[in-house]
Amino acid sequence: MEDYKWKTAVITLSDKGYRGEREDKSGPLICEMLPEDSYSIEETLLLPDEQEMIEKELIRLCDDSHMDLILTTGGTGFAQRDCTPEATLHVATRNAQGIADAMRYCSLQVTPRAMLSRGVSVIRGKTLIINLPGSTKAVRENLSFILSSLEHGLGILTGRDGECGGA
Ligand code: MTE
Repeated sequence: MEDYKWKTAVITLSDKGYRGEREDKSGPLICEMLPEDSYSIEETLLLPDEQEMIEKELIRLCDDSHMDLILTTGGTGFAQRDCTPEATLHVATRNAQGIADAMRYCSLQVTPRAMLSRGVSVIRGKTLIINLPGSTKAVRENLSFILSSLEHGLGILTGRDGECGGA
């Protein structure tokens, strides 16, 4: 796996951000938090909370652009327009629930409001898609909980890591 960088796309879901009424700080934070020597950010997108549009972009990034990893931020809550988990589930070929479980479990030690994120983690083909909540605080926390295990999962998923040696 020497020198290989995981091809990554970052999508921010926010009606206000899309309309230019709010600066997107969460997408850039994700890019900043991913170690440069392991991840290559191929695309960053800012989309409104429109399920069809989100699904279309997810499918393109997986099937045409062959991303290893797609991280989304926002649209995981209870607001009527929040539809990131629905779009993500709709394009999934397999579940990868443990990542979302881990994020919620660890986040609940920080805030009880972690239970209000409906974010999911799934696989489409050879791409891992993970929903993070929208705030920079939530992004920082959630990403820090999963980063150390992510590369091993990506290695197994893409076949670059042959063996699961434990730990
Ligand atoms: N998880 C962590 N670790 N830290 C947080 O501050 N905020 C929660 C939750 N998850 C939070 C968190 C809150 S207040 C909400 S409403 C949900 O994420 C959904 O956020 P979203 O609608 O911006 O996606």
